[in-house]
Amino acid sequence: MPNRPIPRRKGHWFWGCLLEMISDRSGFLIDKHEEHGDVFISRALVRDLMFVRDPAVVYAINVTHWADFYKPEYVKSMWKPFLGNGLVPNDGESWKRQHKLILPGFHKKRVDAYASTMVAFTERMLDRWKEGERRDMRLELNALALEVVADTLFDIDIGKGDSETIRDALADISEILVTDADKMIPRPDWWPTAENRRKKRAIAKIEEIIRRVHEERLTSQKDHGDLFSHMVFVEDEQGRMSDKQLRDEAMTLIFAGHETTAHALTWTWYLLAKNPDKVAKMREELDRVLQGRRAEVDDLPNLPYLEMVVKESLRLLPSVWAYAREAQRDLVIEGYEIKKGQTITISHIAMGRNPEYYDNPTEFRPERWTREAERALPRGAYTPFAGGPRVCLGKQFAMMEMRMILATLLQRLEPNLAEGFEPDFVTELSMHPGERGMQATVRFR
Ligand code: HEM
Repeated sequence: MPNRPIPRRKGHWFWGCLLEMISDRSGFLIDKHEEHGDVFISRALVRDLMFVRDPAVVYAINVTHWADFYKPEYVKSMWKPFLGNGLVPNDGESWKRQHKLILPGFHKKRVDAYASTMVAFTERMLDRWKEGERRDMRLELNALALEVVADTLFDIDIGKGDSETIRDALADISEILVTDADKMIPRPDWWPTAENRRKKRAIAKIEEIIRRVHEERLTSQKDHGDLFSHMVFVEDEQGRMSDKQLRDEAMTLIFAGHETTAHALTWTWYLLAKNPDKVAKMREELDRVLQGRRAEVDDLPNLPYLEMVVKESLRLLPSVWAYAREAQRDLVIEGYEIKKGQTITISHIAMGRNPEYYDNPTEFRPERWTREAERALPRGAYTPFAGGPRVCLGKQFAMMEMRMILATLLQRLEPNLAEGFEPDFVTELSMHPGERGMQATVRFR
């Protein structure tokens, strides 16, 4: 195929597109793809960034050529102090080994067994709530998702203290990582800045909790049937995972496994609050199928509209709004020449707003997710969990968790936003409503 020209966005003579990007990251992707098309390049300080929302190119990067792309070096160095060599930033042979060791821990049977915990914890949360009080759904759903991950993956019933420690530490870390990423030239970790000290303190707090659970597991030599036990005791020809690797994987799972889901649920709440007709449809389905009893994992195939709502929410307001790769060699994909070392941002949020694939893309319309319509979508056009071998390891877990929690919330609550409240749209590592949260008034049915 002949080489296709890649439009170049001219930015500021010094910053390139950096300042534009920082001021509104997701808006930048959506608007600039509209302006320049499915693939374009723009400079951020000294680095040329390629942005992609062409499904065929995304599919090739995720699937056909997955081994030719690693996580970008600047992303890895940003993650390093926190996630070390955990699955998210890892690459090459080391990633292959870790992936093979951990994958059985996400077996469908094991994940399905977590459904009842997800429902029970949601009910426990609602039992504490009182009619008419104001709640920040972002905070509540974050705490809930953290409790779920702690219990199902680590078998720790997170006490209020631990939960708050992890939540506050993660919030600190996320904020600092994003500030580092925006600088494009991260300061070395040993640099004694206030931010680096705050980051180190936050990381140490989570490490302490992981170390405690690890020691308990080694002392008791007991497999709790959770993912952490699996990671402690699983072996291959090279033996067990090192303590350092185990720490890195545990950090990765705590981080990747709760904020992403919590924010996706927060946006689903927002979209439902704005669309009472969709709530009515969900209710009709839930009441008909469940007849007032608790949702169970076996009910999910009978709740297709619930799944459509989740898919549509992940299209319109995806918590992971983009992800990045770096080419490991020169190659041509769909006629686009990609040089070794090229950093590529896969503009997942912009893909979801492309009218070529989604009519009236800004409209929240779960009904668009019929089986036929989904089959007609080009491969690579919907990748909220990325795709190919580097697909999100927690995809089934998250899809189930979102549905179990939403079903339980909707059975008892009226989704709403507190009077006069409109959220902010903050795109950091994940997209969330910022410090003002997602304010709602508790209204039981
Ligand atoms: C709605 C919720 C979630 C979304 C939208 C999401 C999205 C993603 C995306 C886009 C990636 C690829 C990132 C990249 O390549 O740079 C990813 C990777 C990953 N996610 Fe998730 N995720 C979610 C929930 C979870 C949960 C619940 C877990 C664990 C329990 C999890 C664990 C992971 C892991 C371990 C990886 C790295 C996989 C690898 O490279 O081998 N995620 N996720």
